[in-house]
Amino acid sequence: MGVNGSRPRGFNGTRYAHIIGWGVDVPEHVMTNHDIEKLVETSDQWIRERTGIHERRIAGDRDNVVTMGVRAARRAIQRAGILSHEIDLVIVATSSPLHLFPATACLIQDRIGASDAGAFDVLAACTGFIYALGLASAQIKAGMIDTALVIGTETLSRLVDWSDRSTCILFGDGAGAFVLKASDQPGGVQDVIMHADGSGADHLYVGSGIRPTWDGEQTEQRIDMNGREVFRFASRVMSAATEEITQRAGLHVEDVDLIIPHQANVRIIQAAARGLKLPMDRFFVNIEKYGNTSTASIPLAVVEALESGRVGPGDRLVLVGFGSGLTWGAALVEWEVEQTPGSVMREAMQEAYYIFAYVRSFLRRLFRIVETVVFKSHRVKDNTRKRRRGPDN
Ligand code: UT7
Repeated sequence: MGVNGSRPRGFNGTRYAHIIGWGVDVPEHVMTNHDIEKLVETSDQWIRERTGIHERRIAGDRDNVVTMGVRAARRAIQRAGILSHEIDLVIVATSSPLHLFPATACLIQDRIGASDAGAFDVLAACTGFIYALGLASAQIKAGMIDTALVIGTETLSRLVDWSDRSTCILFGDGAGAFVLKASDQPGGVQDVIMHADGSGADHLYVGSGIRPTWDGEQTEQRIDMNGREVFRFASRVMSAATEEITQRAGLHVEDVDLIIPHQANVRIIQAAARGLKLPMDRFFVNIEKYGNTSTASIPLAVVEALESGRVGPGDRLVLVGFGSGLTWGAALVEWEVEQTPGSVMREAMQEAYYIFAYVRSFLRRLFRIVETVVFKSHRVKDNTRKRRRGPDN
């Protein structure tokens, strides 16, 4: 909020949505291609050559989309130098939620103490993070909210059929988060496009059927995919979406400093580069480490690009993704980080606030239990009284 609670507006009334914080979390367990050779008939060489993947992370028993999402969010909040109760909206993009409902966003909202925030999930498969970024930035630009937390978090390893060599080689687990904040300074998330074509729904979906998991257990769901069709579709829309979003801004693709694509297959990214007539060094690729982490793949790549110095203030980025649905989309971002310098005091306050949020959540649960017991005993007493008085009283 601005002075006297007014929302920050530029002199011409324009509001911008800047990405002011970012964080990631990946499970510790690394599964290499050689590990997969022990599960299905494949080879490290085939996987590297056909996908670009060398290894991926696999969530352990204690990890899930909430725990990883919380850790990524906490890092993003710390980087943003805000307190979690300042967040107005939490949007989680995930293709592997713990529950159909409640939304993963609500579980994360509770854990981080974003007590004044609305929270909901977006299901647009691997394009989900782009969709979520579009929704959050639009809310900020429209003046409806000031601060949003956008998270992509996945445990796709739990949906993969580990006896299907055409899919199990591709996917991995992880989470990434951005904090977006309103500003009167130009820059930030400038435009987002979202597309869908449900006629291709049967090319990539989660179907049912008992299948083995990677550690020998059983799962009742599995990812089914027509790899060649998805490959063809992806190669086409990655370049088309990049062109569309740059043209909408009156730019050429050559004006973009770095394209950060969904990391699904390095050959798809190479095809997009050919389609756009751009050299591969204009694209950021880190698929070799994580495989396809669906909604987490773009934030994981953005954060690595930032940390490795590939992105700096003033850079123009296109984030572009595709996925089941079929869905695809792109975001145009001007990386003008308006950074509130994080102070040790503020970080300590936020740490204390996490403890407070945990205790508050615990007490709320306890209060609900007590309330239920008291309400029940009142009802029993009322019913007993009614029975004693007889049916007419
Ligand atoms: O977020 C979106 C998620 N999905 C995607 O982005 C997937 C897009 N598609 C792909 O990345 C590729 O299509 C795959 C990596 C899935 C497959 O690569 P491909 O080059 O399209 O292989 P293919 O399906 O055309 O199969 C070529 C051959 C086949 O053998 P035959 O029929 O030619 O004898 C497959 O059986 O490669 C075989 N094959 C494998 N061989 C060793 C398929 N998977 C494997 C494997 N190891 N893991």
